[in-house]
Amino acid sequence: MTDSQRKPVTVPDLLALRQAGHKLSMLTCYDAGFARTLDNAGVDLILVGDSLGMVVQGGHSTLGVTVEDIAYHTRCVAAATRRALIVADLPFQADATPERALDAATALLRAGAGMVKLEGAGHKLAVIEYLVEREIPVCAHLGLTPQSVLRFGGFKVQGRGNAAAQKLCQEARQVAEAGAALLVLEAVTAPLAARISHDSPIPTIGIGAGKDCDGQVLVLHDMLGLDLGHRRPRFVRDFLAEGGSVAGAVAAYVEAVQAGSFPAEEHGYKA
Ligand code: KIV
Repeated sequence: MTDSQRKPVTVPDLLALRQAGHKLSMLTCYDAGFARTLDNAGVDLILVGDSLGMVVQGGHSTLGVTVEDIAYHTRCVAAATRRALIVADLPFQADATPERALDAATALLRAGAGMVKLEGAGHKLAVIEYLVEREIPVCAHLGLTPQSVLRFGGFKVQGRGNAAAQKLCQEARQVAEAGAALLVLEAVTAPLAARISHDSPIPTIGIGAGKDCDGQVLVLHDMLGLDLGHRRPRFVRDFLAEGGSVAGAVAAYVEAVQAGSFPAEEHGYKA
């Protein structure tokens, strides 16, 4: 990697990279050892996701994760990250009000994050605005928002049918208007994610959302093929099997995302 490629990725860089046609690569990570490997492989964004409640803590959902958990893992990741932009999740109900979200987000930025991610639109739009006005960069997350698992009745594809698709398009516009600088789209049909990405003023990052997003994210444990005791989602590819080592797997992922060869059609959901 050249020196200019090793410059830390900043929030304004995300839009500039999109405009330059660079596909953004993002992976989740929860500790220093893996963070060093991801950073060295050129991953653009590291997500300290509340998925840690499932893949690290062994829970059945993300609902048990606390701000302290995310702050601890963010500190671990930040200790070994030089280039990637660290995005830290606001866990369940930490963003229930703007004031709570500001306290939680401040703790996560102090722990080393460069941006926080929060799920949903609706009353979260006021939270996004409140944080952005107070110098906290925000990544929005729409579609299959895992903190809504009880209302959804499971981890289900979102945006199917005309009304649901229209609602998702509207929410995507709203989070950008509220000031989000990045948008994660999870388990959204490929044509809908393509439409949202095409119309979005901010870069989109897909997970199970087809190839037309501006970047991709996977949970690290999934792309390393770890057996997590549940069926692997269809959008996951086992990069360890082809990469031969953890570093090789991460490098293969970054290359596949940048080349547009991941995700393939079989990793997406049809309308
Ligand atoms: O917590 C997480 O890992 C996430 C990704 C699935 C996008 O939010």
